[in-house]
Amino acid sequence: MKILIINGPNLNLLGLREPEIYGSENYDALCRFIEAVCKEQGIQCEIFQSNYEGAIVDEIQNTYGVFDGIVINPAAYTHTSVAILDALKAVALPAVEVHLSDVDGREDFRKISYAGMACIKTFKGLGFEGYRRGILYLKEYLQKEKGM
Ligand code: DQA
Repeated sequence: MKILIINGPNLNLLGLREPEIYGSENYDALCRFIEAVCKEQGIQCEIFQSNYEGAIVDEIQNTYGVFDGIVINPAAYTHTSVAILDALKAVALPAVEVHLSDVDGREDFRKISYAGMACIKTFKGLGFEGYRRGILYLKEYLQKEKGM
């Protein structure tokens, strides 16, 4: 089982950016956390981060035939990007959406998620733990629905 973790804009500034919302741990710590979860679960994973919408679209397109599923935190593009939604629909791989913060308890514009419309499940407001829950959910889905 091979999955791709995609992180959108400004997540590379974790630890620095609004720590009262996103916590004090940095992006390297998030990557180490994700890698440890995947190792423990016997899942092969790659992690991709970009601040550019088109780069994220390219990366999603490149998953086709290479990865079994996607865990994605599109960050601010969650609330704006029909292109990321369309790319997820195009490759049609099971995708799980993750947000560190509770997007529903923040500004109204964060309540809309375009990417989420192509995802089988969303975890929000759980910090790093949301990635663990997302990875486990995806693993169980792939086992159940795709016989992996
Ligand atoms: C975020 C929530 C988004 O609204 C925000 O733009 C982000 C991070 C989160 O993980 O909580 O950059 O996706």
